[in-house]
Amino acid sequence: MAKVAVLTSGGDAPGMNAATRAVVRAAIGQGLEVVGCNHGYTGLIAGDLRPLGLRDVGGIIHRGGTILGTTRCEQLQTSRGLGQALEVLKQQEVDALIVIGGNGSQSGAWELSQRGVAVVGIASSIDNDLFGTDVSIGATTAVDVALEAVDRLRVTAAAMNRVMLVEVMGRACGYIALMTGIAGGAEAIVVPEEPTEPAAVAAELRAAYARGKSHAIVVAAEGAAYGGDELLEYFRQQRESLGFDVRMTRLGHVQRGGAPGVFDRMLGTQLGCAAVAAVSERDFGVLIGLCGGVPRRTALSEVAGRSRPADVELLKLARLLAR
Ligand code: F6P
Repeated sequence: MAKVAVLTSGGDAPGMNAATRAVVRAAIGQGLEVVGCNHGYTGLIAGDLRPLGLRDVGGIIHRGGTILGTTRCEQLQTSRGLGQALEVLKQQEVDALIVIGGNGSQSGAWELSQRGVAVVGIASSIDNDLFGTDVSIGATTAVDVALEAVDRLRVTAAAMNRVMLVEVMGRACGYIALMTGIAGGAEAIVVPEEPTEPAAVAAELRAAYARGKSHAIVVAAEGAAYGGDELLEYFRQQRESLGFDVRMTRLGHVQRGGAPGVFDRMLGTQLGCAAVAAVSERDFGVLIGLCGGVPRRTALSEVAGRSRPADVELLKLARLLAR
């Protein structure tokens, strides 16, 4: 094993740079040469690779985004694109590829692995929906960003006796909504894993009003059956009976742009080093995640095409405490 390529792929996540830094420095520590693919699989397919040395990854551990750049690469979903990627890896004499990314990216890694590429994945997505890890790089920072917004929204909600409806990211996973809602003391949380009719959410708000609350926070996941727009429309129609006036904030990409918190810096660092260990042991076709507090390898065959839902048991706790 002489040369390792690393790429970041899919939605950027705070902590990707910490993982890139760890991969580069740990690999060089093992005597390996490292190259980075610019802009994820797109750069790999185009042969847009650059050498990465110790100094190239200096001063990045605290930065969000990814210094390597990233894309959602549709080309990799075609046999032509996969073939081009294989050709570049061969031409550039890359012995192993490390893929830092979420579900789509790890499915791509599995496709390459099935075609003989020595691949190791690192779990990274703010959505925290990857199978094979308890938590993925970027998720906790995204929640912190969303939480800060909720805390601020509560201030104005309280001042004006309003309902603040906050829509957060997460695709089909309610993790960000659940964590933000519980930690932000939301009166209602709406997630894809437990479809909730707008009427049921309105009933929770009416009950909160009846218990003497002067304002309320509703956190809704973007992937919920009834997301922000639908809930807003329904609450507006029910304005008189709700007791509260309503405003909506869609947090959107602001959740992805934060500087990584300590957890994501540590997670990126640990998983990056663990990926290099897997490469050194020639244990390929695996995803590196954090399970029970320690880095663990899961076969990419188990990860690809699968996702991990949020723990809806926590909704019971949220409802009990939102009183
Ligand atoms: O997967 C991360 C994520 O931020 C999702 O939460 C969101 O639905 C999606 O990416 C947005 O994708 P894009 O940045 O391509 O618009």
